[in-house]
Amino acid sequence: MELSKVMEERRSVRHYNEKILDKKTIEDILNYAILAPSAHNRQPWHFVVIQNKNEQAKIAQMLLESSSDPVTVTCDVVRDSSALILVFADIVDTIMDVESVGAAVENMVLRARDLDVASLWIGYILRIEKELQKEFSTNKRLICAVALGYTDHFPSKRPRKTLEEVSEWV
Ligand SMILES: Cc1cc2nc3c(=O)[nH]c(=O)nc-3n(C[C@H](O)[C@H](O)[C@H](O)COP(=O)(O)O)c2cc1C
Repeated sequence: MELSKVMEERRSVRHYNEKILDKKTIEDILNYAILAPSAHNRQPWHFVVIQNKNEQAKIAQMLLESSSDPVTVTCDVVRDSSALILVFADIVDTIMDVESVGAAVENMVLRARDLDVASLWIGYILRIEKELQKEFSTNKRLICAVALGYTDHFPSKRPRKTLEEVSEWV
């Protein structure tokens, strides 16, 4: 698919069907993630691929219990997506390293769209950073999670601010 079409058609998908994503496709998506630019070429990202319904249900439950403001739709995605990828980072220079990981995650969701794989970039997972560091025995910082899978509910385009609203020419 043309890159411009991939960018136009990417959506955040919150409903997944039971079709299983194969390992080769997940590796393909991660291989695009690691092509991203990174500050000082530090490539600070580390991906934990979870394709295990028990583990996903456990994480969904942790997330559900993490706050009095439950993020139930996101919990459902954590539980029901075919794969959940936790994105950790070695942080040296906070802002630049987080920017670098963001670039990698954008590559992931775009490559997923290119392959007709649905995705959701999940920030709410940060509510359980400490629990997940413990669960996966790491001191790396959690940046986000990405859910991947197949869907029968492809959402319509969400509104965007206009270019005039978000830019100025000097
Ligand atoms: C950093 C970041 C964190 C996000 N966290 C969540 C989340 O935890 N749960 C969720 O349902 N959507 C999450 N989203 C998806 C946004 O809600 C979505 O990108 C936005 O509404 C625009 O919709 P679109 O991606 O379909 O264009 C996140 C997106 C980004 C970039």
